[in-house]
Amino acid sequence: MTETKPYFPTLEALDAFLEDMATRPCEAPDLSELDHGLQCAEVLKAMRPDDVELQVAGLLHDVAHGLCHIRDHAEVGAHALRDLMNDRVNALIALHVAAKRYLVTTQRTYRDRLSPTSLRSFELQGGDMSAEEITQFASDPLSDDALRLREADDAAKVVGKVVPGLDAWRDALRACARQA
Ligand SMILES: [Fe+2]
Repeated sequence: MTETKPYFPTLEALDAFLEDMATRPCEAPDLSELDHGLQCAEVLKAMRPDDVELQVAGLLHDVAHGLCHIRDHAEVGAHALRDLMNDRVNALIALHVAAKRYLVTTQRTYRDRLSPTSLRSFELQGGDMSAEEITQFASDPLSDDALRLREADDAAKVVGKVVPGLDAWRDALRACARQA
């Protein structure tokens, strides 16, 4: 795995980084990486109102985009947050690419819906899962939550959608931090 840079030692460092994500475009046209994360978190909040950790994982899932090869961004993101956010948040971030690979491998209709960019990153991220990988993912206690995160990820690319900004997530980020 690519070595982590940057590493987030404090919530303030993470906050500054998230603010900076507003200046970086995500794979969807006319949307920043921060817009995408905020939309993802908001979709998860509607889906699972009581699961703040899942919502925060949605906000942070692509924190390593642009910092490493697209292939590694789930693991690198979780690794970068390892000392700051709690284990479940980090595990959900780490699993979000596996969730995509699982869906593409097991659902033909899901594969057909992917954009050319997303299909390209799917191939770079390992392509179809082996039977062993499918079993391993499905037996992970967090697999269902990771699939919800992936569902929200797909829905979080709406240009012009108005969602609460970073201010609305600062308490949730604090609640999911290790030293909360
Ligand atoms: Fe994403």
